[in-house]
Amino acid sequence: MSAKLKTQNSKLKTPARNVPPRWRKEVERVLITEGQIARRIFVMAREIERDFRGREMVVVSLLNGTVMFLADLMRHLSLPLRLDFMGVSSYGAGTESGELVFTKELRLDMRGRDVLLIDDILDTGRTLSRVLPKLHALKPRRIKICVLLDKPSRRIENVKANYVGFEIPDYFVVGYGLDFAERYRNLHSSVSCIRTSINRPADASTRPSATSNSWN
Ligand code: PRP
Repeated sequence: MSAKLKTQNSKLKTPARNVPPRWRKEVERVLITEGQIARRIFVMAREIERDFRGREMVVVSLLNGTVMFLADLMRHLSLPLRLDFMGVSSYGAGTESGELVFTKELRLDMRGRDVLLIDDILDTGRTLSRVLPKLHALKPRRIKICVLLDKPSRRIENVKANYVGFEIPDYFVVGYGLDFAERYRNLHSSVSCIRTSINRPADASTRPSATSNSWN
């Protein structure tokens, strides 16, 4: 069960005053607060522990957006586990092609293991639809998918997560590991909506689109 954030939810109107001053001009509003994230992760960890108890668990985390979510989730997992990373990224900063590059392969043996696959956001589903066949080829016993954010309205591929932190509307979100042109990942105190009018960083070829985490 995910925590749903609906557009009529007053929390969507939370102004950016909780955002550190240096980011306030760029952040439109806070979508999910630090406290909400922490509480939700605690509950998710209990669900995961219940489902993985007694199993040989391997956590596979997708780089780079998962760094904060992974670190906080793992603090609450008291099961024995192994950790590995897969590097996967959209090809270039301005493409909508869905082309992905794998930048790091797994090192651990997955055969017969119970895999918890972690991503920060499930958007179109392209990333996970390409990662899953690679993982299945390594013959794990089972794969469960865990994402902090889910944008079901954007889905193109038929991918569902087993554990969802927050189901969110179609906004471009940054912070808590999520980036715009590689920036804002360290805006740790919240998941926030970025102003679509911000000047793009010098090294970015696009602006955030009005509504989604895709590129114009
Ligand atoms: C982002 C995010 C997810 C993916 C979700 O990755 O981390 O992995 O997009 O989008 P999708 O469901 O439409 O595929 P990105 O390629 O931007 O790399 P990053 O994790 O380094 O930010």
